[in-house]
Amino acid sequence: MTHNTMLHTLVTLADWIRWGASAFGRAHLCFAHGTDNALDEARWLALASLDLPLDLPDIYLGARLLAEEREKVQRIFEQRIHDHIPAAYLLGETMIAGLRFKTDARTLIPRSPLVGMLSFPTLPWDVNIEDISSIADIGTGSGAIAIACGYGFPNAKIDATDISAEALVVARENVYAHGMETQIHFYQGDLLAPLPHIRYDLIVSNPPYVRSESIEQLPAECRYEPRLALDGGSDGLATIHRLLHQSARFLTPEGHLLLEVGEAEVALKDAYPSLPFHWLDFEGGATGVCVLAAKELRLLERNEGEGA
Ligand SMILES: C[S@@+](CC[C@H](N)C(=O)[O-])C[C@H]1O[C@@H](n2cnc3c(N)ncnc32)[C@H](O)[C@@H]1O
Repeated sequence: MTHNTMLHTLVTLADWIRWGASAFGRAHLCFAHGTDNALDEARWLALASLDLPLDLPDIYLGARLLAEEREKVQRIFEQRIHDHIPAAYLLGETMIAGLRFKTDARTLIPRSPLVGMLSFPTLPWDVNIEDISSIADIGTGSGAIAIACGYGFPNAKIDATDISAEALVVARENVYAHGMETQIHFYQGDLLAPLPHIRYDLIVSNPPYVRSESIEQLPAECRYEPRLALDGGSDGLATIHRLLHQSARFLTPEGHLLLEVGEAEVALKDAYPSLPFHWLDFEGGATGVCVLAAKELRLLERNEGEGA
């Protein structure tokens, strides 16, 4: 039986999802951008490509597909299998923490644990959510973290920066889609430099932190993402050093920096032995997210050499 004759034996939505999951597994795809397994990935791609809701009741999985629908599903599955293009780029959108974001190759596919944490915030320091009135998101990419803050901190004005003008085009579209254009403002430029001259109660950032030499070893899917969003220099800390040294000047006296450093956690602790990082635990097991208070960051002004 040829490949296409075999595919003609796939009749229902369930048949296609089951076949896709097997083929994805054989192709050793990476599931790190929206799902974490082959079956969920096949279900997501099949439903979204047919404009069906992702929570489609199971009874409809027995529905037979029209010839043109089968072609659509086959085409998108084959792109995923042969080219390893992330599902979020094939579909032009992703869901995280129940929020939908437009995504394309101009921005990193949002997957930070900060999105879920900040959309329903319980902060690991003593503060009332209502008292947080200003937030800065540095390296906003698709705008996902800034938008999560918009939901979690309805009283806050949110400023977000990115060095990539292309990423900010996508971020603005997402902010419009979430109706937050009066709450969130974007500024293009290097880290905190383009922000207006105010102090923030919270600075949040998921900067690039992959070691340059590790980028080529990332799964093929990640290599569709902008290198600028991933490359953290020789030890992963190039952007993080500058962020740590600059943040205190932009924080209120009681303000905090909430920082995702992922796999650069160990290198960061080694580089700043005197900084009292508070590392957070997440239900899903994510690691590499820490908090520093403004007064702790000010220690760096006294230890000029640290991390340099
Ligand atoms: C890891 S991505 C995070 C994107 C988004 N915040 C998220 O969590 O999905 C890092 C982002 O920082 C941006 N970036 C890299 N260097 C920067 C710099 N020097 N100043 C501002 N943004 C920068 C990249 O363009 C990218 O959008």
